Amino acid sequence: MITRAEFAHRRRALMDIMGNNSIAILPSAKENVRSRDTHFRFRQDSDFHYLTGFPEPEAVLVLLPGREHGEYVMFCREKDPHMETWHGRREGQEGAKKHFGCNDAFPIDDIDEILPGLMEGRERIYYEFGNHPEFDSDIMTWVNILRAQVKKGAHPPGELIDLSHLLHDMRLIKSKAEIRVMHKAADISSEAHIAAMKLCQPGINELRIESEIKYQFANQGARHEAYSSIVAGGSNACILHYVENDALLNDGDLLMIDAGAELEGYAADISRTFPVNGQFSEVQRTVYDCVLKANIEAIKVVKPGNAWSAPHDVAVRILTQGLIDLKILKGELETLVETEAYKPFYMHKTGHWLGLDVHDVGDYIEGNEPKRLSEGMVLTVEPGLYFPPKTKGLDKKWWGIGVRIEDDVVVTAKGHKVISNKVTKDPEEIESLMRH
Ligand code: GLY
Ligand code: MN
Ligand code: MN
Repeated sequence: MITRAEFAHRRRALMDIMGNNSIAILPSAKENVRSRDTHFRFRQDSDFHYLTGFPEPEAVLVLLPGREHGEYVMFCREKDPHMETWHGRREGQEGAKKHFGCNDAFPIDDIDEILPGLMEGRERIYYEFGNHPEFDSDIMTWVNILRAQVKKGAHPPGELIDLSHLLHDMRLIKSKAEIRVMHKAADISSEAHIAAMKLCQPGINELRIESEIKYQFANQGARHEAYSSIVAGGSNACILHYVENDALLNDGDLLMIDAGAELEGYAADISRTFPVNGQFSEVQRTVYDCVLKANIEAIKVVKPGNAWSAPHDVAVRILTQGLIDLKILKGELETLVETEAYKPFYMHKTGHWLGLDVHDVGDYIEGNEPKRLSEGMVLTVEPGLYFPPKTKGLDKKWWGIGVRIEDDVVVTAKGHKVISNKVTKDPEEIESLMRH
């Protein structure tokens, strides 16, 4: 669990970097219409959640380092018995203070009157430009109110600084508590993958598997998927973001599942591939073994000091060598890697940062170099090979095979820790699990 003290620590760390004479302003996520007057289930903006844990829309966080009357200010909805009867409970200003540690809280409807006063005398505004288009113009309106009062002695802020960068640097390094939550999210997801393997048999629908995964997540306390699960039988696995999940699963095909639970806002992101009938064919096994080797060897280079891209480089070499061995590519390894000859069969990167967002924030480049790994970073390692049907020049025996094996890996002080290993990726263990 992320404690109130940890949320407070994050705000303190951010304010220490911002320095006094500055103000940070961050709006919550908006509710989005799904159909006429009903909404998608609300999900808080990850940055807003990271700093507050406050779960409501129509809220604005304001941080004022060094402010005597309180540094942590929240604008949020007022309590309203009528609205709460129809739409659910609200914290109100008292709840924001009592349950979320705000020093001060005001009704969101009063923001136009109050916020310019909070900005006054602060030199720098930290704000995420472009992420909340309507809010961008509100910020300028408030600054302009102060500019119009300069003759009366007002001091409008002179500098606008991007808040995302500071915040995303912080979010890239996970605390021990964050890693514990992510490990739990990965455990829950692994159990769901195991259940899917046990349930799978020829003739059932991908949707049945998807519903089992959702049930397993929710039943273990993770109400949401971190992203739409991909349940892709046969050649559907060659569509990278396949989410229809409505086809029958055929005897003799593989099933690729890419599914991860969200817990306390944190994502897991795990892929496993296994035979629908519980037994890999020889041809499937050759492809699977190649991807598995790429996955295992790529994970080995996850350690502090290595480039974040090191796992990708390792995976690409192994997959390319595999394609040569399978006689799918011809030529020298070095040349084929250099000319990216593997790209028709391996078109995505081997991983990404993982955290509150499944494709989490944080730079991938530092200076002109790939970012170096350091303790507390969490990334996926997810090599794959994809052979869509009717691929020109490709022997038919490969058609329709798509394999991805994706793990979640924490960078530790000396190396790494795989947190998605509760579900096996060993082909014989998968077959044994599916027999029982
Ligand atoms: N599930 C999305 C990804 O693997 O990046
Ligand atoms: Mn994935
Ligand atoms: Mn991924």
